[in-house]
Amino acid sequence: MTVRSLNVTIIGAGKVGSVLGRVLSEEGVRVVSVISRSRSSARRAARFIGAEHASDRLSSIPDSTTLVYITTPHAAVAPVAQALAAEDHLRFPHMAVCHASGMLTADVLRPVSARGATAFSFHPLQTFPRDFPPRKILPSARGIYYGVDGSAGGIRTARALAKRLRGHVLLVPPELRVLYHAACVVASNHLTTMLAVVEQLGARFRIQPGRTMEVFGPIVEATLGNIRRTTPAEALSGPVARGGIETLRDHLEAIRQVAPELLPYFIQVSSETVRLALRKRSISQQRAEEMQTLLSGYVDQSSEREVQR
Ligand SMILES: NC(=O)c1ccc[n+]([C@@H]2O[C@H](COP(=O)([O-])OP(=O)(O)OC[C@H]3O[C@@H](n4cnc5c(N)ncnc54)[C@H](OP(=O)(O)O)[C@@H]3O)[C@@H](O)[C@H]2O)c1
Repeated sequence: MTVRSLNVTIIGAGKVGSVLGRVLSEEGVRVVSVISRSRSSARRAARFIGAEHASDRLSSIPDSTTLVYITTPHAAVAPVAQALAAEDHLRFPHMAVCHASGMLTADVLRPVSARGATAFSFHPLQTFPRDFPPRKILPSARGIYYGVDGSAGGIRTARALAKRLRGHVLLVPPELRVLYHAACVVASNHLTTMLAVVEQLGARFRIQPGRTMEVFGPIVEATLGNIRRTTPAEALSGPVARGGIETLRDHLEAIRQVAPELLPYFIQVSSETVRLALRKRSISQQRAEEMQTLLSGYVDQSSEREVQR
């Protein structure tokens, strides 16, 4: 199957299906139908994508479909693949089927590969926030990586599809799929959590929540820019990287007194920062051990507090 001959059906009319369907359509790929649990979602997504057909029934997938992209929540992928395999009007040997879940491998698509379809996982390594309208997410959906596994034919199709979406393929060994997804969570969700911690600390010195990024945005963006140009180790600056154990103690004390609920987070991330500074060779082994001992002392205090609650 060539990508030129792609006729795509999207199953799951949510954020990922709507946004990537629209990118495909803008790149000249024919999206023939959108299927979802509710007809109203399917219709809304079809309008946004410019797809010809919308339905809440798998039986109405056009038999001209050559690629099915399952973009339902991950718990629905297996039942959808099972139900899809029972659709006798589809020409499975001429079809590819993929899904967008970061947690699942291509194995979940076994019911359709057993009928002759080419199967692969195709997880967009990007965030598609639920509260943002698809139009706003569209610009960030190009040029991204897709976490992929599958048969040789599946991987070939994935590469062609990613190219069409102006993206790239990252081959993920199936046995490391969950670890891969954990890394995605750290990259996006933990970054968000970390900035929410900045917001909470900022509130103590009267930065209003809505202004946190106005104030901290430049340092956050410069840090990301430095990391992109080099590596996290090279970009690391600050007291831990300089071996400033007194400053680290002062920070721990200030957080213990003013925002004790954030102490476990601060200890854990500081400990990882010490390990990074050691890898960077900006501190000695001895200084790293002194800092880890200081941090361990505060771990005891924060767990005592948990017990007292
Ligand atoms: N959001 C992200 O940041 C992100 C990033 C990368 C990958 N992913 C993955 O992409 C997939 C979709 O995520 P999403 O954020 O787009 O989810 P979402 O916005 O919740 O959309 C999921 C859609 O699937 C439909 N659906 C649910 N069960 C179905 C079924 N049995 N048959 C047909 N349609 C069904 C829902 O239908 P109705 O509206 O019709 O009820 C909903 O529109 C997930 O596997 C997720 O892990 C998400």
